[in-house]
Amino acid sequence: MSRSDVSPTFNRPSVEQAELVVLDYGSQYSLLIARRIRELGVYCELMPATADVSEIAARKPRGIVLSGGPHSVYDDGAAGLPEGLLDLGIPVLGICYGAQLLAHSLGGRVASAPSREFGRAEVLLEGDSPLLTGVESNSVAWMSHTDHIVEVPPGFEVFARSGDGLIAVIGDGALFWGVQFHPEVAHTAFGRDLLRNFALDLCGCAGDWSATSFIENTVDWLRTRIGDRRVICALSGGVDSGVAAALVSRAVGSQLTCVFVDNGLLRLGEAEQCMDVFSRHLNMRVVKVDASEKFLSALDGVVDPEEKRRRIGRSFMEVFEEVAPTLGDADFFAQGTTYPDVIESAGDSKRHSSAAAKIKTHHNVGGLPDTMRLELLDPLSFLFKDEVRQVGRSLGLPEEIVDRHPFPGPGLAVRMTGAVTRERLERLRRADHIFISELRAAGLYRHTAQALAVLTSERTVGVLGDARTYEDVLALRAVDTEDWMTADWSRFSHDFLATVSNRIVNEVPGISRVVYDITSKPPATVEWE
Ligand code: XMP
Repeated sequence: MSRSDVSPTFNRPSVEQAELVVLDYGSQYSLLIARRIRELGVYCELMPATADVSEIAARKPRGIVLSGGPHSVYDDGAAGLPEGLLDLGIPVLGICYGAQLLAHSLGGRVASAPSREFGRAEVLLEGDSPLLTGVESNSVAWMSHTDHIVEVPPGFEVFARSGDGLIAVIGDGALFWGVQFHPEVAHTAFGRDLLRNFALDLCGCAGDWSATSFIENTVDWLRTRIGDRRVICALSGGVDSGVAAALVSRAVGSQLTCVFVDNGLLRLGEAEQCMDVFSRHLNMRVVKVDASEKFLSALDGVVDPEEKRRRIGRSFMEVFEEVAPTLGDADFFAQGTTYPDVIESAGDSKRHSSAAAKIKTHHNVGGLPDTMRLELLDPLSFLFKDEVRQVGRSLGLPEEIVDRHPFPGPGLAVRMTGAVTRERLERLRRADHIFISELRAAGLYRHTAQALAVLTSERTVGVLGDARTYEDVLALRAVDTEDWMTADWSRFSHDFLATVSNRIVNEVPGISRVVYDITSKPPATVEWE
C-alpha cells in the first residue's frame, strides 16, 4: 500500500468561516504562514492561488495573505491575483512573491536582484506604519528572493529597506501591504508582531479562536451530522485518532464504537495503554481485536517496504471485514485526518482541489472494505498537530497520549529493514523502549518532534567479555520539524547518546552496535522504509 492509494473525499464541517485566507502561490512556507496566524487565535485557511474570488469571499475573510512562491511575476503561466480580489475591500498582505505580485498588479515595477538574498538580512524602518507598530527600527528578517520591487505603485510608500537598500516593506497605508521577507519563519524576530498587527489591527480579527471554541463548533456539527445513527472509529493508539474518537464520543456518546486492532507491530505496552485510557478512563466502547498472528503471517518472508505496506493494508481491511458484523449497523467512520494531510494530499495534483484530495491517515487502516459503505467523518481536518494536541488536552485525554510522537500505521514493520519476525520485533521493541524512556527521563521527549529506533538488517562484529559476537546494528533517529515535509536531525548531546547506546547494547540481546542517523529530510525521509 503506498501512502496515496485511497482517495475518499473529506467530510468536515464546511460551514466554518475563515477570518483570514492565505492564498498559496507554492512557497514551502505557505502552511507555516497559516499556522503562525492560527497561533494568534485567528482561524485561517489556506486556499489555492487559483481559487475563484467567489470561493474566497464565501469564507467571509477579514483579510487575505498572499504567500511567497518560486516564480517571477514575469514567468509565463505564473499565477496572478484572483480576478476581483482587490475589489473585496479587505486588507491584503503580500509576502515575497505575493508582495511582488501585488506591486506589479497595481502599477509598480519588479526587477531581478543583483545578488541573491537568501537568509538573514537587516531591515531598516522608514517612517511609521501600522503594519510595523512595535518593531525595532533596525531588525533582522529572513529574505529569500531574487526578484524584488524597484518602484512602488502609485499611492504606495516604502516603510522599510534591507541593509543593502532593497525595498523590504511597502504599503498604501490602508488596505494593501507587501513584505519582501518571511514573517512566518522564526529567524524573522519581529514576524509574529507583524502578523499580529496585520491580523488584529489592520483586519480587525478578534484573536479568540481556541481549542474550546473549536470543540463547541465541532461537537455541534457532529451531533447534527450523525443524528441518532452510529459511528465507528479505528484507534491506532496515536493522538490523531484518539482525539477524533474523543470528539465524536463527546458529541454522541454511546453511538460510537471504537475498534483497536493489535497488529503485533506496536511499541512496547502500547496496546494495553490504549485500551486502558480509552476504554477504562474515558469510558468509551472499544472493541479490541488481537490480529497479530494474521499480520505476522501476512508479512512472513517479505522484505520489500512497499510490499510490507500493501500486505499490512490488506490485512487491516480483512480484519475490518471480519469484525464489521459484530459492530452493529454503523453509518459513519470517523478518522483523524489533520489539516496538513488535507493540504499535502490535495497538493498532488491541482493544489488543494477537494476532488483531488487523497488521504494519508487512512492508510493506517488500508481503506475500508467496500461492503461497509460508511460515510467518512474528518473532524480534525482543520487542525494542525499542535492544535490537535490542545484539543486533546481540553477533552481530558492524558498527557501520554496527547504528547505522543507520530507513529506510522504500518508500525514497527517499516522500522526494521529486512524480514519481520517475532524475535526481531521483540528486539526492536526493547531497544525503542529504552530510547524513548531515556528521552523522557532527560526531559527531551517534547523537544524532539519524533524519535524512533530502526533495526537494520546489518550484522557486525563485536566483542562481549572474551568472546567475538556477530550481531545486529540498531539505528536511532530523532528529528526536529514543524511541517513534516522537511526535517533536521535532533542535536542530542554526546553524553545522552552514549547513555542510550550503552543501555541498549547491555540490555538487549542480539544488538551489538548502535548508530545515530544524522541525515536531514530531504534527502532522507523520517522513517527508513
Ligand atoms: P516520512 O518517512 O515520509 O514520514 O518522512 C513523515 C511522517 O509520516 C509518518 N508516516 C506515516 N504515517 N502511515 C502514517 O500514518 C504511514 O504509512 C506512514 N509512513 C510514515 C512518519 O512517521 C512521519 O511522522
